[in-house]
Order: sequence, then structure tokens, then C-alpha cells
Amino acid sequence: MDTARSLLSRITEKSNQNEHLPLTNAQNPDVIDLPVPAQKHSSRKIWIFWIVLCLTIPPLVLYLSLPFIRSDTFRNFTSPFQSKPSATVNDTHPPDIDDYIPPHVTVPINQTRPSVSKDCQDLTNLTVYCIREREHAAPQHDLDLPYPEGRTGRYITFNNQFGLIGFNNQLQELLLNAYLSWRSGRSYAFRDVSFRYTGLHVPLSAYIGGPSVGEPILDTTIHGPPARSVDQQYWHQVCPPDEVVYLNVTTEQAEMGIEGDGKTEGSLLVEKWVERLSRKEERCVEIMFKTPRIFDFTLLDNPHLISIWPEFHKSPFVRDFIWSPLVHRAYSHNVHFMASLPDSWKVPELGENYTLEGLLVIAVRRGDYKGHCYLLWDAGLPFNTWDMLPELPDAYIRDAPDSPAEKAKFVKHCWPSEEEMMAKIRKGREDSGDTLKRIFMASNAELEYLEEFRENLLKDGWESVVHTLSKGIEFPTEEEALCDAMVDMEIARRAQVFIGNGFSSLTSNAVMMRLTDGKDPKTIRFW
Ligand SMILES: *[C@@H]1O[C@H](CO)[C@@H](O)[C@H](O)[C@H]1NC(C)=O
Ligand SMILES: *[C@@H]1O[C@H](CO)[C@@H](O)[C@H](O)[C@H]1NC(C)=O
Ligand SMILES: *[C@@H]1O[C@H](CO)[C@@H](O)[C@H](O)[C@H]1NC(C)=O
Ligand SMILES: *[C@@H]1O[C@H](CO)[C@@H](O)[C@H](O)[C@H]1NC(C)=O
Ligand SMILES: *[C@@H]1O[C@H](CO)[C@@H](O)[C@H](O)[C@H]1NC(C)=O
Repeated sequence: MDTARSLLSRITEKSNQNEHLPLTNAQNPDVIDLPVPAQKHSSRKIWIFWIVLCLTIPPLVLYLSLPFIRSDTFRNFTSPFQSKPSATVNDTHPPDIDDYIPPHVTVPINQTRPSVSKDCQDLTNLTVYCIREREHAAPQHDLDLPYPEGRTGRYITFNNQFGLIGFNNQLQELLLNAYLSWRSGRSYAFRDVSFRYTGLHVPLSAYIGGPSVGEPILDTTIHGPPARSVDQQYWHQVCPPDEVVYLNVTTEQAEMGIEGDGKTEGSLLVEKWVERLSRKEERCVEIMFKTPRIFDFTLLDNPHLISIWPEFHKSPFVRDFIWSPLVHRAYSHNVHFMASLPDSWKVPELGENYTLEGLLVIAVRRGDYKGHCYLLWDAGLPFNTWDMLPELPDAYIRDAPDSPAEKAKFVKHCWPSEEEMMAKIRKGREDSGDTLKRIFMASNAELEYLEEFRENLLKDGWESVVHTLSKGIEFPTEEEALCDAMVDMEIARRAQVFIGNGFSSLTSNAVMMRLTDGKDPKTIRFW
């Protein structure tokens, strides 16, 4: 089960859209990776290594390829528009054995607060380099500030935080970790967003704004004035190793008397951890690298998560969540085209609450989902995170045993046929009193497939249909190209109606934002 789940998490991440972007290394001179200790193999060790490798790799390869082999039986569900499957699985990067990204360690720093170079003082300069510099120079990175900040403040970092090639799942966990920190009266020391396959570390503030990444926390109901989040460089400064209490999640949970692996009710898990992390004498706490994550996939893809929502979604980390100026720029650059809006329409400021009337956004997962759906079915998983919320009209939680009827229902949600999607889209338009006119299709399918889908929608009377691969969507800088998945989430959040794939983390992040914005749950649909 564990293997299935961690495998699952990797495949989920693989499907995030960042993986094929032309990424270069973050130009960040003062951040270095933890040095890997040099390994000396005696020739005997090398032999053992090869034997172990030969014994483990073939079964692993077989296991990994299973979903793709078996996915042939999905033939029933391939497009009525074309005979061949709609997209191929790109598996040139087999998942790694390890879920974790090594901790990111910064060089020792001076006691003085870092300053911003002349180039980067212009806040509209959004190179990754400048974003990093400004992140370091945040006002809370100052040891002389009074409690609850500064050298007497209380801090926590999650060194086991999930990192793989995409961003969507990382966002879910980091918001929950930030929420837990706040509930425990600790400043959250956030980490970079990590991309395993490229080795790239992007400063978190390149993607998001708001309290998780150091903006003031306006809610004072818990613990009085809260401490702002800090970055890893400051964490290393304010919490030298001899003052850090290192917590192993396995042993701590055993002491709390609760089980991991998604077996504990989410709200109870949070209460237990808040109690554990609130000890006054422990000024600095690090959740250890390579111990299970508190909010891991066994909980995120699990109805036990739902009990966390009522408090979590009212917290500053969700309520005051905003994208970064960089994402906003990439979005502003494309939204007219994506949503078929006239040039005269003015993009609202970052953080404004609005709806793109007349727009339906649909998320169509193809490609990797062919194999992914099988993994999900085998692992018995329900919808992803907040897609499970019972107020959503199409929420799906698998409770029935593995019957053919249940499987048919499952496949409709995970890999709906084009006919089923067309029917759902038509129904969505009817339900809106024919106020929906335009479509944006966020998808990982191939161009040919999307064009065909588009033609069929136009025949069905839609005024305009734009999709992910339409010519006209542009990310003019490398920095903006990092943001394509966030731009999709943002437009899904703003649409009058959104139809997503309930198993997708891109969908559930958009759902989280729509609900937080106060949009009617009836406008959030799943295949
Ligand atoms: C698969 O992904 C790799 C790395 O992103 C890329 O270099 C390669 O061209 C892709 N292959 C296909 C068939 O898309
Ligand atoms: C420490 O401060 C000195 C002088 O202010 C500066 O030259 C040096 O680059 C700083 N080191 C770091 C790691 O910031
Ligand atoms: C923006 O910052 C970069 C450094 O990352 C610098 O090379 C460039 O000149 C700056 N651009 C402007 C317009 O200041
Ligand atoms: C955490 O504790 C468990 C159980 O005692 C142990 O097996 C594991 O090795 C520990 N992990 C680390 C990283 O120390
Ligand atoms: C956002 O706008 C909608 C509709 O105008 C409104 O119902 C909702 O309460 C607003 N949400 C917030 C958080 O202000």
C-alpha cells in the first residue's frame, strides 16, 4: 500500500505542468545544496550494490509499467472523435525511489539583515534573482525585533516537506503546515518550491504571496499578534543547530497515541500536533527530514482530511492567500485571450474578488491520467483533498466495494469519455440559464485532440473555445513560463462555472480558492 501511495504521489506530481518547461538553475549564489558525503565503495560493496540492483530494478520496472500495460482496457473509453488514444504517457523520467528533496541549506550569514541590490529595488523587476533577494530582505528577518519575532520568537520548519517536479501538491501541504505553525504559535519557516527532476529550487515568493510567505498575518484571535513567516536563510540564523529540537514524526505520533498513514481523523491529528508544538521551552522546532509528512498523501487523498477544512479555510493562510506578482503578471498577460475578453476589459488588481461572467473553465486530464486512473482505482482512493467536500454537488467518495458498477462510476470521474464530457458541458450551460458563452480548456492532452474537442464544442454553439495549446497563450519570460499551472488555477478560480477532474490537485486548489472567495458550490462541478 505504501509503495502504491508513494508511487501514486509521484505520478500525480508528474502530471503537473511544469515538467516540460525550459528551466535553468535559480540564479542564487548564496544558497547551496547540502553536500553529499563522498562514498567509498570497496570492491565487495560494489558487488553487493550490483546484486541488489539486479534484484530490485526489474520488479520495480515491471511494477511501474503495470498501469500503462493494463491501461489498454481503457480502450472502451477512448475518444469517439479518433481511434487512437488521445495522448501518450511520457515516461522518460521514471519516478525516483525517494519522495524527498534534500534539505536546502544556506551558508552561514552575518547578523545584519540582507539588503536589496540596486537592480532589484524596482519591485517590478521579477527575475528569480530579484525575487530571492527581496525574500531575504523581508523586514521580519531581523534578530532585534521584539517577541513574537526576532531572537526570542518561536519558530518551526518542516524539513520533510514534499517536493517533486510540480507545484500543486506542494501548495496543499505547505498551506496545511503553515496553518499548523500558526495554531501552535510559531513562525513558519517556509521552504523553496523544489523540482526533483530538474534540481531546481524556486523561491516560494515567486509563486505565492500572502501570510505563508511572510506577509503580515492580520488575524490576532490565536496567540495575539502572530509572527510572520520567515525564509530558510533567516531560520538558520535565528535557530542555530544547538537550539533546535528535532522531531521525528513517527516517534512523536506514537507518543501522542495516534496513528499515521491517514488512519487518524484529520481534526484530531491537528489538535494533537498543536498541543505537541506549543511547548514554550522549545523555541525552535524542526520536523525531521525523512520522517513521514504530517499531511502526506495517505491523508490528503482520504475523507479523514475533511474535518480539517472548517477551521483551516478560515485561517489567514487560506483566506488571505494570493498569488505572487509574477503569477499575476503571467495571468494578466494571457487572461484576455484565454477567457476571450475584449481588450477594454481591465485586469483587476491582485487580491481582488471577481468573477469572469459567461466563462466556463473545464479541466481535461488526459495523457498520464491513463495510467494514473488505474493507480487510483487500485489504491481505492477517493477524490483529491478539497474536491471531497460534501457541499460540492459532484463530490465522490468511494465507499462501495470493488464492483463493476463502482468501477464504471469511477472511470466516469477519472477518465470521462468525450461524449460524457460534452453532455456535462451542455448540462452546465443549461443550468446557468444559457449565460455561459465561452470556454477555456485547461488540459495536458495533445494539440490534435484539443483541436478536435474545440471544433466539436464550437459546433455545439459555444461562441469561443480556447485551450492550453492554443496559439496566443504566451509566457514571454522564463520566469513567467514557470507559472503556467498557476495561471490555469487562477482562471479556473475566476470562471463563472468550473468543471474539473476531482482527482487532480490542480482542480482541488482551484476549488479551495473558489470556496474561499464565496463562490456558490453549485458552480463547482466534476466530471
Ligand atoms: C518527455 O519528457 C522529456 C523531459 O521533459 C522530454 O525531453 C521529451 O522530449 C519528452 N518526450 C515526449 C515524447 O514528449
Ligand atoms: C557579511 O558581511 C560582509 C560585510 O558587510 C560582506 O562582505 C559579506 O558578503 C557578508 N556575508 C554574507 C554571507 O552575507
Ligand atoms: C532586473 O534584475 C536583473 C538581475 O536579476 C538585472 O540584470 C536587470 O538589469 C534588472 N532589470 C531592471 C530593468 O532593472
Ligand atoms: C524515526 O523514528 C523511527 C521509529 O523509532 C525510526 O525507525 C526512524 O529511523 C527515525 N527516523 C529518523 C530520520 O531518525
Ligand atoms: C466575493 O464576491 C462574491 C460575489 O460578488 C460575494 O458573494 C463574496 O462574498 C465575496 N467574497 C469575499 C471573500 O468577499
